Amino acid sequence: TRVAVVFGGSSSEHEISCVTAGSVMSAIDTDRYEVVPIGITRDGNWVLTSDDPRRLAITDGELPAVEHTGEELALPFDSTSGLLVVEPGAVPRRMGQVDVVLPLLHGPFGEDGTIQGLFEMMGARYAGAGVFASAAAMDKVFMKALLAEQGIPTGGYVAVTNRRWQRERKRVLEDIADLATTVFVKPARAGSSVGITRVPDAADTDAVARAVEEARAHDPKVIVEAAIPGREVECGVLESRDGGPPDVSMPAEIHVADGFDFYDFDAKYLSTSSLTIPADLPAEVTETLRRTAGKAFDAVDCEGLARVDFFYGDDGGVYVNEVNTMPGFTPSSAFPQMWANAGLEYPELIDRLISTALN
Ligand code: DAL
Ligand code: MG
Repeated sequence: TRVAVVFGGSSSEHEISCVTAGSVMSAIDTDRYEVVPIGITRDGNWVLTSDDPRRLAITDGELPAVEHTGEELALPFDSTSGLLVVEPGAVPRRMGQVDVVLPLLHGPFGEDGTIQGLFEMMGARYAGAGVFASAAAMDKVFMKALLAEQGIPTGGYVAVTNRRWQRERKRVLEDIADLATTVFVKPARAGSSVGITRVPDAADTDAVARAVEEARAHDPKVIVEAAIPGREVECGVLESRDGGPPDVSMPAEIHVADGFDFYDFDAKYLSTSSLTIPADLPAEVTETLRRTAGKAFDAVDCEGLARVDFFYGDDGGVYVNEVNTMPGFTPSSAFPQMWANAGLEYPELIDRLISTALN
């Protein structure tokens, strides 16, 4: 089976995608799968690139990237082999003879339905969520709407569209001040906590405005969420193999390393933040989390895999924070660790994603 691993991309999670891909490519069963490593540079060039996991790891705090040296395009993978049509500076028009694509991309142009649309148009099979679910889960405002529609609790929020921010800034700031004391200001469509600011006093309009501008540097659409005091927990979800309800892992609890205000980018990837799997929770809370994770997967119409992130509030409530349709697969990532805890080791997890996509 020939598997195209596509990674990198133009989103702010480029580096994390590289680490994810490096981990997957070092673990994939090469007796069964022929890997075609396709990197997308930050400026959108598709290149046949290194699958050397050492070049795709975080070393001494340095994050990897897809480099465009030009050499990669000289690889004999174009019309001669019929494998892949890549033109420098262009998006490919077809994938050639690959059986399945693993789009190990996070964030816009990777996890948001755009590249999924490209694969649909090429007629390529790919792992993970389709166009709609990817787009819906990427946009935190629409995701909350879909979850709420199924009666799944989420935190309160204010959506700050570009138009509202330009024309009704005062009203927006009032709405935010009324939302909660502590708020998180986020780009509506991003991941890995890029561009997120925690504002401890939402009545401090200067601080909120600065945070909104910071988020707007990543996305003209911003979401401001009420902080939910409590514990941060998450569940892995996999599409079932027999058409039944999705399989849900036991929850993991995140312990943010000391010195961080919240689980931000550095806390996620460059610190000693850790996980407890399974999370030490009352049995009925574990049950609620798992049931809700499966429901959230279906509410957004996910396929293949997803990680559903929650707050277990100090008030005893379980709130969905978000649904990630291509969760991080780095060695420190929760998704593979939760499945390993359930007896599904990393190489088998990759098999599962591929076989689900081929089904
Ligand atoms: N967006 C990151 C990769 C995650 O959800 O794990
Ligand atoms: Mg996310």
